[in-house]
Amino acid sequence: MITTHELRKKYMEFFVAKGHVEISGKSLVPENDPTVLFTTAGMHPLVPYLLGEPHPAGKRLVDYQKCIRTGDIEEVGDPAHLTFFEMLGNWSLGDYFKEESIAYSWEFLTSATWLALDPAKISVTVFAGDENAPRDEVSAGAWKRLGMPEDRIAYLPASDNWWAAGPTGPCGPDTEIFYWTGEGEPPRGSNKGTEPAKWMEIWNNVFMEFNRVDEKTLIRLPAQNVDTGMGLERTVAMLQGKKSVYDTEAFGPILKALGDLSSKKYGSPTNGAEVDRSFRIVADHIRTATFILGDPKAVLPSNVGAGYVLRRIIRRAVRHGRKLGIEGSFLSPLAQVVIDNYSGPFPELTENNARVAAELAREEEKFLETLQKGEHEFAKMLPNLLKNPQKVMSGRLAFKLYDTYGFPIELTEELAAEGGLAVDREEFDEAYKKHQELSRAGSEQMFKGGMADHSEISTKYHTATHLLHQALKQVLGAHVAQKGSNITAERVRFDFSHPSPMTKEELAQVEKIVNDQILMDLPVTMEMMDIEAAKASGATALFGEKYEAVVKVYSMGDFSKEVCGGPHVVRTGLLGKFRVQKEQSSSAGVRRIYGVLE
Ligand code: SER
Repeated sequence: MITTHELRKKYMEFFVAKGHVEISGKSLVPENDPTVLFTTAGMHPLVPYLLGEPHPAGKRLVDYQKCIRTGDIEEVGDPAHLTFFEMLGNWSLGDYFKEESIAYSWEFLTSATWLALDPAKISVTVFAGDENAPRDEVSAGAWKRLGMPEDRIAYLPASDNWWAAGPTGPCGPDTEIFYWTGEGEPPRGSNKGTEPAKWMEIWNNVFMEFNRVDEKTLIRLPAQNVDTGMGLERTVAMLQGKKSVYDTEAFGPILKALGDLSSKKYGSPTNGAEVDRSFRIVADHIRTATFILGDPKAVLPSNVGAGYVLRRIIRRAVRHGRKLGIEGSFLSPLAQVVIDNYSGPFPELTENNARVAAELAREEEKFLETLQKGEHEFAKMLPNLLKNPQKVMSGRLAFKLYDTYGFPIELTEELAAEGGLAVDREEFDEAYKKHQELSRAGSEQMFKGGMADHSEISTKYHTATHLLHQALKQVLGAHVAQKGSNITAERVRFDFSHPSPMTKEELAQVEKIVNDQILMDLPVTMEMMDIEAAKASGATALFGEKYEAVVKVYSMGDFSKEVCGGPHVVRTGLLGKFRVQKEQSSSAGVRRIYGVLE
């Protein structure tokens, strides 16, 4: 029976044997990308290359990428939903296209040397065609030549077979591959179009030849690319004949450890559905939290952005741990199980082991305090509440407890029930929904093509970021290192290591140096180099970032030299005038600068 680690390895081996270069997956926290909090798809870090930037490792690539999607966090707990998952992907950047991509997938899935799946249990979908692109007879033809019967091919509309990472960015028709999950052999004529529930998606081959610029405009990309994605956890569950991802060894050790901590057992026939659901929620959330905190560019729990997502995940895990009867702290030992299981393919988890443990323990303790405070507040309120003749606590009040103290509605209901009160759940839900819509819109925006945002102004800010970084090093010293950056159409936000607030004079100096480089109209040039040679040549590289063997190095005259994926403007003179808007603290030992181009 194939395991998670084996499938990942086989996938890499297969595509390397087919002339692909294995590149390392990237951080969960995208650099220079204002549109998204986490890496949400395997193709996300490759967007610039799909748009036409040359990739230093070539045109055929294979990787496994950590991804997080928390848009439907409330659904986690059913047997299929995950907030963290791995995406296996192979990429053609203007090299092979539909015919070969499909042939590779077929060989990997069905050949006795690789996965040896029964071809009779595989069906596919192809794009049915619309005003943007014709019915995909090329893909259908490729499938038929490999022996796929006509009745296993479903032609479906864009809602199924057009893949885009967001409202803008690279996109195109896809062909999706499904495996039969029903009993015995699938009946004749069965496919995703006729019996959707019985066919499970295992692979998605996207033929990215378009770029959506805005709602109305679709333009052709410079090359015909292939982006494929195989969800690792889901595919392993299917290959193992398991009904749920939680029944695979990606989760087995976590669920077992959680059982030991709670003296319950996952999947025990005496468990109510709620108990197993809590098991799954804790298992999913601790895996996600461990990967976020174990990332080289970890975010820490906070009340905004990605930090807020992490906080929510941790708190939800704590709450469900309590539902399982765990009183004290339990997250760090569980995280250790995740780290032990994943340290092979993700060595960063071992490197950041101490941080994972410390941050989880800290956040857990804080939340337990919050819960206690909430319980205390509730006890104070109870006598007044009991004066209500209907014995109902208003939903607005319940929401206030939630909003102010982070006090979960289930606990409010529980405590209210103990005091003989009901909670107006409808009113609470209404308030909660409104709040959630706001915070979702604010904290997890759609992926809009990411760094892909090659819009002119972002590119300018990107170049300005390099100038700013170098200017800071010159003014403050060599200890200055980039800790993060975020670019919007209005400004750049730049975080860097420095122990104290900058003085007015220092800020003026930095501004002047940047503007001098702009006035000198330095040429911006790019060179491909071996990463070690790049570092030896003095190019700035980000600490903790995983780089390919060969990287792009951008130089701005002799002033700045940095390892970077680009893109950049061709001359610094195009930037206009740079102004530091604000300098403030970001976290301990890290300062933050907001800068604008005028
Ligand atoms: N971009 C596609 C997906 O995420 C294939 O990798 O499904």
